[in-house]
Amino acid sequence: MRQSQRLLLFIHLWIVGLKGISCFTTTPFREATKSAFSTPTRQVPTTWLRESASSHDSSEVSLDDQLMQIARKLKLHVLDLEEGVFGFGTNDYKYGLEVVRSEVNIQPSLGLDLMEMAAGFDGRGLVLVSGVHGNAAKASIPIHLGDTLTGVTVGHSWKERTTGLDYDLTVEAIGKAKEEAAKQRTNKISLEFNRLVPRARVQVQVVSSDENMPEQTIDGLAGENLRELLIRKGVKVYDRKTKRFDTPYATGDCGGEGICGTCLVAVLEDENNILSPRDNLENLITKKRPLNWRASCRAVVGVHNVGGKLKIQTCPQSAFLEELDPGVRSVNAEED
Ligand code: FES
Repeated sequence: MRQSQRLLLFIHLWIVGLKGISCFTTTPFREATKSAFSTPTRQVPTTWLRESASSHDSSEVSLDDQLMQIARKLKLHVLDLEEGVFGFGTNDYKYGLEVVRSEVNIQPSLGLDLMEMAAGFDGRGLVLVSGVHGNAAKASIPIHLGDTLTGVTVGHSWKERTTGLDYDLTVEAIGKAKEEAAKQRTNKISLEFNRLVPRARVQVQVVSSDENMPEQTIDGLAGENLRELLIRKGVKVYDRKTKRFDTPYATGDCGGEGICGTCLVAVLEDENNILSPRDNLENLITKKRPLNWRASCRAVVGVHNVGGKLKIQTCPQSAFLEELDPGVRSVNAEED
């Protein structure tokens, strides 16, 4: 790994903490790939390679470089410092993280190589899969180079979290899992990974209820909130004809919290089912509305990273001469 790459990663790989920001700036990288269960690494495609394969010859890119490109896009968040809860995010909005769980046999060996890309003084670090062979190559769900291990489970109840641990602690957790598997008399453990994936593209064709407004098509990425996407692209989301459930005590919209019911859109086409299903809150606030009306602040486009086209009409309530009744009066009233 070249020195310039290491420095670059140090700059990019930040731990965002509750009390400020710290980063891996002082501890050197481990010099070479450490193989947890050492046998020579078999080269299998990384997620990154799959994505870039069409644009250039991936065989020219070394494994180190591929892993470095993945590492640069990952960011470790401190979700709860006291409880030690960490989670990965991405530095690049064009990428998201998938959670992959895969069962692997541990005897005679796991067959997984790990590479530490960065490490701090506190046991935190970034470790990526750098080789998959033996049992790991026959895992129930394929493991990719560049995946980062976030947890190990044995049986139904034993679990060790490994999110953002350095190499030594990650290997220690796997070792404990092997011991636990022996106690439980099983040859299987379950590995959980975060996998960097390019977010699928979504196209939203927007028909306005205002006849004077032309149709427009906006582009987004899988995982975006529909209301936020529309607002970001300058599409008018709200209409004064939608009453809040707490009218007349409150006016305006709730800012996307899913409690006012004023951000309605009518879904005209959704051929790939790219909109997320309704949750209970959305069911409440759209209860007295046509079935194809959605609360845009509760809907996510490209759910499960599926891309495709969506056609919606904004402010469908505008077509009604009279103001519509509030969707719900209150959550308590629904329960009565
Ligand atoms: S903005 Fe209030 S429910 Fe959507």
